[in-house]
Amino acid sequence: MQTAEISRRYIDYFAERGHTVVPSASLVSDDPTLLFTVAGMVPFVPYLTGVVPAPYPRAVDVQKCIRTNDIEEVGKTARHGTFFQMLGNWSFGDYFKEGAIEFAWDLLTRSEADGGLGFAERDLWVTVFETDDEAAALWQKIAGLPAERIQRMGKADNYWHTGQPGPGGPCSEIYFDRGPKYGREGGPAVDDNRFTEIWNLVFMQELIANVSSKVDFDVVGPLPKKNIDTGMGLERVAFIKQGVENMYEIDQVRPVLDRAAELSGRRYGADHEDDVRMRIIADHIRSALMLMTDGVRPSNEGRGYILRRLMRRSIRSMRLLGVEGATFTELFAASRDAMKSSYPDVEHDYHRVSQVALAEEETFLNTLSAGTTILDTAVAKTKQSGSPQLAGDTAFLLHDTYGFPIDLTLEMAEEAGLAVDRQAFDTLMADQRARAKADAKSKKKALADVSVYSRFRALGETVFHGYTDLVTDTKVLGVLVDGHPAQAAVAGQTAEVILEETSLYAESGGQMPDRGRIVGDGFVLEVLDVQKPVPGLISHTVKVLSGEVGVGETARTEVDPDYRRGATQAHSGTHLVHAALRQVLGPDAHQAGSMNRAGYLRLDYGWNQALSPETRTEIEEIANNAIRDNLEVVAREMPLDDAKALGAMALFGEKYGDVVRVVDIGGPWSRELCAGTHVATSAEVGMINVIGESSVGASSRRVESLVGMEAFRQFAAERALVQELSQNLKTRPDQLATRIAELSSNLRTAEKKIQAFEAKALNDRVPALAAKAGRVGDVLLVAEDAGTLASGDELRSLATSVRQTLGDAASVVALAAVVGGKPVAIVATSPAARDAGANAGSLAKTMAGVLGGGGGGKPDLAQGGGTDASAIPAALGAVRTAFAG
Ligand code: ALA
Repeated sequence: MQTAEISRRYIDYFAERGHTVVPSASLVSDDPTLLFTVAGMVPFVPYLTGVVPAPYPRAVDVQKCIRTNDIEEVGKTARHGTFFQMLGNWSFGDYFKEGAIEFAWDLLTRSEADGGLGFAERDLWVTVFETDDEAAALWQKIAGLPAERIQRMGKADNYWHTGQPGPGGPCSEIYFDRGPKYGREGGPAVDDNRFTEIWNLVFMQELIANVSSKVDFDVVGPLPKKNIDTGMGLERVAFIKQGVENMYEIDQVRPVLDRAAELSGRRYGADHEDDVRMRIIADHIRSALMLMTDGVRPSNEGRGYILRRLMRRSIRSMRLLGVEGATFTELFAASRDAMKSSYPDVEHDYHRVSQVALAEEETFLNTLSAGTTILDTAVAKTKQSGSPQLAGDTAFLLHDTYGFPIDLTLEMAEEAGLAVDRQAFDTLMADQRARAKADAKSKKKALADVSVYSRFRALGETVFHGYTDLVTDTKVLGVLVDGHPAQAAVAGQTAEVILEETSLYAESGGQMPDRGRIVGDGFVLEVLDVQKPVPGLISHTVKVLSGEVGVGETARTEVDPDYRRGATQAHSGTHLVHAALRQVLGPDAHQAGSMNRAGYLRLDYGWNQALSPETRTEIEEIANNAIRDNLEVVAREMPLDDAKALGAMALFGEKYGDVVRVVDIGGPWSRELCAGTHVATSAEVGMINVIGESSVGASSRRVESLVGMEAFRQFAAERALVQELSQNLKTRPDQLATRIAELSSNLRTAEKKIQAFEAKALNDRVPALAAKAGRVGDVLLVAEDAGTLASGDELRSLATSVRQTLGDAASVVALAAVVGGKPVAIVATSPAARDAGANAGSLAKTMAGVLGGGGGGKPDLAQGGGTDASAIPAALGAVRTAFAG
């Protein structure tokens, strides 16, 4: 049975039993505490906790998931995949344990001919939470399972939560017995390889907090409703149903493995180590493909880092299979072909995705050669020093800066006959992890506990009138002070206010929150921030300027019209720049993020190269032409699928419900999914002035523009500057560039002349200084004060010139001067003087000691310095004395 067929049966089975079919959410999680969607439940958390009322009592889905905490296990076991699909059926306060067990047992054991999955009853085992007598009894009753095939386990196995504060509950897992060939008798409690978990039924009934590990958390209370969250591992069921050994050999993954085998000329099944490598490649390439299709780009942090790691581990594994060149073109195409029937986006977005993948591969192959040079140098040094092991910080540098996995460093060092100081490396890694953790923790603290919003959200969505009205009459539903519900807030306090309706725009889709006021009978509030803490609910952070605002009062929201006009111009401007960029660069220039506020916009997009000045001007002109053409702006609401059919660009990382808003500027000229506020016709944007183009991390660029009056003001300021410069330089504006070029060329000529004069003046002093040489024994000694000089270099050149003038004689030249207010000493010795025992280094040290500082150098030339310029005569005296002695 093909993988896609298993999903189809699952979805059909539950759809026929009253479940709403919900499409998979993006791998990029909406939840700020999670990088990725790690389980089927992630998109449903607001419904499970009751913060947002569930729109349906029952649902079914196939959710794409990424988990990388067991990345080291990939390829070694049958079932560890970094990308996997979780089939789930959901009940939000509808059926509970009994219903979930009935459905699961029926679907699993129903014959294939009858739409089921056709598992034999004798192959199935279950586990329940240690105290869950009810579930155990239900399994006996519904499935007729004998008591010994219902095993009880503790929290580590049979209590489920995401590892974050939120919903949790005891669970019951269903296992498939692969037979005696795969391990010991005794059920899943004894051997979880032979007995492979295929489906987890979670009885989601509690809210948990203070989670420090899988088993260490506090249950803070019951959920408002009892829910069912189930997760069937699609890849696991697939490998069992397809009669293959593991998830890497199923129809959706195996083609990549085969491609890796072909490219390397090695045979799958011939060598255990090689097999593991091929499985790693097959798994990681698929994960990378799916992540990039969902908009993740390789980078050095967060999601992008995990993606990068997956790709680098694949390249590394190909190397271990003996392939050093580029292979992504073949590997990604194989994965695309295996995945496209289940995920059509994989094919639609493939051009963009493969560009990113190939660029990443090229960079890493270059990195490998740069890192190899570093490693070779470090290896040579280590060997020279006689040490048998490479320092831990070299391994860490390679890991941190060059992205070398530690096993790569270990192996390359071993090839060179060295070990690696693994302990030091591990310590450095642990320090880095601790830093990252502390960082993540401090970020997490900033998030308020969202459960306080649930009772307001339960009253419905906040109605937003701001697309058409700047002023809205409304009612205060709630006041929060310091994150806690309060009856009122008084003058001077900062509080959050929840209203029934509002005209104030909450930050989203890159557009910053509106500014404005909320006024009522006896109170005036200044709006500081407007956010959506949970989907559909708008919260206004305000400062109470006067009076007191209380729950239940009537109020009026007033958007600052100037601010809104600017924000609206900037947001429409962002769409214009985006459309212009794509017109010039092509559809692969995909928006990766944006920010706009009154007067300013910035747009990040995936691209590898800087824009040339010509391209930048071209984009700016296209955007400004669209303004001049006064294109009509139309916003419409429609189902997501209709919007996609119209070619509207869905931007990654934004959350869209089933009904989306499509904003057109000039019909299809610019068409985006967007909930922001926009101008009525493009001419209102006024003007776009691109002020910057820069890089933001690997293969991502940023354009920044001023919009509307701000764009104009910037030009006006530049005009004033040009006028001022023209006046000062006594020329016409159009001659300014020529005039400045002329001036700097004159300046360079003058500087050269001055340098020549100074060098000559310095040189002119040499004969007089040389003439002061006095004989001390066999040595000619010059110990003189050279006065005030511009630099230590001048003093050095003076000393060496005097030494040269004294010819082959044994000579010692000790000069001191004041440079920048501080004393500096230079000592130069001739070879004959050194043969006679003179040492510039120790003489400079002597002088510096007297000058109140330190010094040193080589026997032929040394320098010293200090703090006390008045000690120069004494320092020179000390040199003479040293010689007299
Ligand atoms: N949420 C459950 C799991 O991921 C079904 O195992």
